[in-house]
Amino acid sequence: MTQTDPDFVAFLRAYPTYPTTRIIDDLRATEYARLDIGGHIYLDYTGGGLYAESQLHRHNRLLAEHVFGNPHSSNPTSQAATQLVEHAREYVLKFFNADPDEYLAIFTPNASGALKLVGESYPFPKGRYLLTFDNHNSVNGIREFAHARGAEVMYIPIALPDMRVDASNLDRELARPSKDGHNLFAYPAQSNFSSVKHPLEWIEKAHENGWDVLLDAAAFVPTNKLDLSVVKPDFVTISFYKMFGYPTGLGALIARRQALAKLHRPWFAGGTITVASVQGEKYYMADGAHAFEDGTIDYLNIPAIEIGLKHIESIGYDVIQERVHSLAGWLLDKLTSMKHSSGTHLARVYGPTTTQDRGGAVAANFYDKEGKAIDHRFIEERANEANISLRTGCFCNPGAGEVALGISRVELDVCFTSPDHEDRLSVDDFRLCIDGKSSGAVRISVGMVTNFNDIQEFLAFARGLLT
Ligand SMILES: Cc1ncc(COP(=O)(O)O)c(C=O)c1O
Repeated sequence: MTQTDPDFVAFLRAYPTYPTTRIIDDLRATEYARLDIGGHIYLDYTGGGLYAESQLHRHNRLLAEHVFGNPHSSNPTSQAATQLVEHAREYVLKFFNADPDEYLAIFTPNASGALKLVGESYPFPKGRYLLTFDNHNSVNGIREFAHARGAEVMYIPIALPDMRVDASNLDRELARPSKDGHNLFAYPAQSNFSSVKHPLEWIEKAHENGWDVLLDAAAFVPTNKLDLSVVKPDFVTISFYKMFGYPTGLGALIARRQALAKLHRPWFAGGTITVASVQGEKYYMADGAHAFEDGTIDYLNIPAIEIGLKHIESIGYDVIQERVHSLAGWLLDKLTSMKHSSGTHLARVYGPTTTQDRGGAVAANFYDKEGKAIDHRFIEERANEANISLRTGCFCNPGAGEVALGISRVELDVCFTSPDHEDRLSVDDFRLCIDGKSSGAVRISVGMVTNFNDIQEFLAFARGLLT
């Protein structure tokens, strides 16, 4: 893209601070060259972040130059592994500005693993579980633990067009904690469907009303600084591959010590206890994070987390945010203004169409010139042919999907109570059952190393759908 390209000139006029993110173009050419060599237009950063080549080299060198054994013994190779794991744990807290006297970091297989730890251990009896419609299924799934243990489950709706929560609804529910049990409020700091950033101010408001807060930060932390010296959720869940691409298979539950003390694990496992007896039928949980890390942790990959976090720090969240803000803004401006010859809009965006309080993902459906929805699976096939990686469906966020697509409670009840749908329901059956309505959307997500050309390629693809 040359500096004289008229679109680029227009883009710079609209987003004049974009050039402050030049460091990312330099990195893209060196650390992420594989994207352009392979002709990839990668627009699925909410699905997974991308690693820099140097992350791999640093990690490889560490493994090649040392001998690491299973941690938590006194032998030298075990000690070497323990030291690195504990260092990475400290680094995670430092990265999020979390005071180690207040918070601790538990390594999990992913954000879902972190969410399950909270769900299975939270003292739900006689309590309430409050959550927003806009949540990943791994947060929705906690409701099954809540139901099974007799808590009341309550959803807070979101509304079109912006897909945000009506504050008065939330205030009303927060003001009604259970007096006889514990109360857990869960929401995403950033939606993985609409990219809405829900207010972090809710955390204190919930605390004032006696709620524990579970902040799902999986879609937020790849491009936003979460400062745990400023906001104090009780539980924070993340997946590291979403932040910096490598390694996969690791996430964290960052928990306030006082909230963690409320959790009661439903079992014990190797690594989680100090003493367990067969004949004595007794076990004693280990202290702190270890009580929540089942079996042998991923001790060879955990050191790569520190490498990844340092990579983000070397770029800086301010630069990443500027990048995402400018490119997502341009994408939104252009996509929402595309029209068929008939005057019909090509795309309908679900969620905010300005960059205010939103992240870099854009969820939309596409329409033909008569205004009929184009199946998102067709868009995906066409995008695949153009080597564009985007994602379609409802992104494991059915609450946001149902609101965006106008699927009502009644329609869902009719579908789920039909005798043939008692035990099994395929996606195709589900589509039929909601009367051929669209059951998903297309998500284009801008991330840390997206460049102007990626967005232009996508816009050219979208223009190809115009008639
Ligand atoms: C907001 C949000 N929460 C939780 C998850 C679950 O992450 P994982 O699949 O890594 O467990 C995702 C994944 O897309 C997400 O976007």
